[in-house]
Amino acid sequence: RWTTASIVDDQVERIRAQVGDGHAICGLSGGVDSAVAAALVQRAIGDRLTCVFVDHGLLRAGERAQVERDFVAATGVKLVTVDAADRFLTALDGVTDPEQKRKIIGREFIRVFEQAAREVKAQGDVEFLVQGTLYPDVVESGGGAGTSNIKSHHNVGGLPDDLQFTLVEPLRLLFKDEVRRVGLELGLPETIVHRQPFPGPGLAIRIIGAVTSERLETLRAADAIAREELSAAGLDSDIWQCPVVLLADVRSVGVQGDGRTYGHPVVLRPVSSEDAMTADWARLPYDVLERISTRITNEVAEVNRVVLDVTSKPPGTIEWE
Ligand code: XMP
Repeated sequence: RWTTASIVDDQVERIRAQVGDGHAICGLSGGVDSAVAAALVQRAIGDRLTCVFVDHGLLRAGERAQVERDFVAATGVKLVTVDAADRFLTALDGVTDPEQKRKIIGREFIRVFEQAAREVKAQGDVEFLVQGTLYPDVVESGGGAGTSNIKSHHNVGGLPDDLQFTLVEPLRLLFKDEVRRVGLELGLPETIVHRQPFPGPGLAIRIIGAVTSERLETLRAADAIAREELSAAGLDSDIWQCPVVLLADVRSVGVQGDGRTYGHPVVLRPVSSEDAMTADWARLPYDVLERISTRITNEVAEVNRVVLDVTSKPPGTIEWE
C-alpha cells in the first residue's frame, strides 16, 4: 500500500535517477501543482534546482508574498522572481475580448519565462524543466480542467529550439488530493496546499472590460475581502472556488453617506464542484453574503453594489471570461 511518505521517497529516488548531477528549472505559478513539483525536486537535488516566478501583476493580494516568503521558507528553494507587471499591462492595454486577453497573457508569459530560463541557463548547464502535470492532465492529453476547447488555457509549452529541456514530471501519476497530501508531507504551508484553483490569466479575466492598474487594485481589494470572510466562516473546504468579478464597464447609482455614488458592481461567483467540468452555484449562508457585501461596499471606494451569480455550469462557465 502506498503511503504519502512512500510516494515522496519513491519520487525523490526517481528524480535523482533521472536528473543525476544535472540542473533543473521550474516555473512557479503560485498554485499547488507547481509548488509541490518544485518541492519534490528540491528535496531530490537541492540547489541544483532554480525556480522562476513570473509576477504578471494579475495576481491576488498576498500571492507573491506566499511564494517569495512562505514557499521559500518552507523549502529553501533557490528562487528568481521576474517583475513583469508593466509589460503585461502594456500588452493588455485596451483589450476587452476574453480570448484576446488569454492569448496575449499566454504569449507574454512564455516570452518572459524564456528570457528568465536563458539567464538561468547562462549561469550553468540546465537541461531539465520541471512541470506539475497531474494524472488527469496526462489522460486528457493537455488542457487544464478539460475545458481547453472552450477557453484557451496556457502553460509553459512551446519553448524555442535552443531552449530544449528534458521534462521532469514528478506528479504524473497523482491525483489532486494526493498532490495536496504530498505537499503537506513536504512541509508546504496550508495556504499554498489548499489554495483554490486560480486561472493562469489571473485577475485579467475577472475584469469584464479593459484591464488597468486601477481596476486591478479595485478587484484585488474586493477579492481579498471575500476570501477573508469565506475563510473566517470556515467555508474554504465547502466550496470549490469563489471568483469575484468586476463589471468595469457597468455603472449603477447608489447612495453612500449622504452622497450619490455612480460606481461599479462586483459579482460573487461561489461554486461547488468535483472537477470544474460541471459546477453548481454554492448556497452560501446569508449572513456571510451580508458581511462580504457590507465590507466591500464600505471599504472599496469604486464599488457600490455586490451581486450574486446563481448560474450553474453548464450553462455558465465558472469564470466570466
Ligand atoms: P471555466 O471558467 O472554464 O473554468 O468553467 C474551469 C476551471 O478552470 C479554471 N480556469 C483556468 N485555469 N488557466 C488555468 O490554469 C486558464 O486559462 C483558466 N481558465 C479557467 C477556472 O478557475 C476553473 O477552476
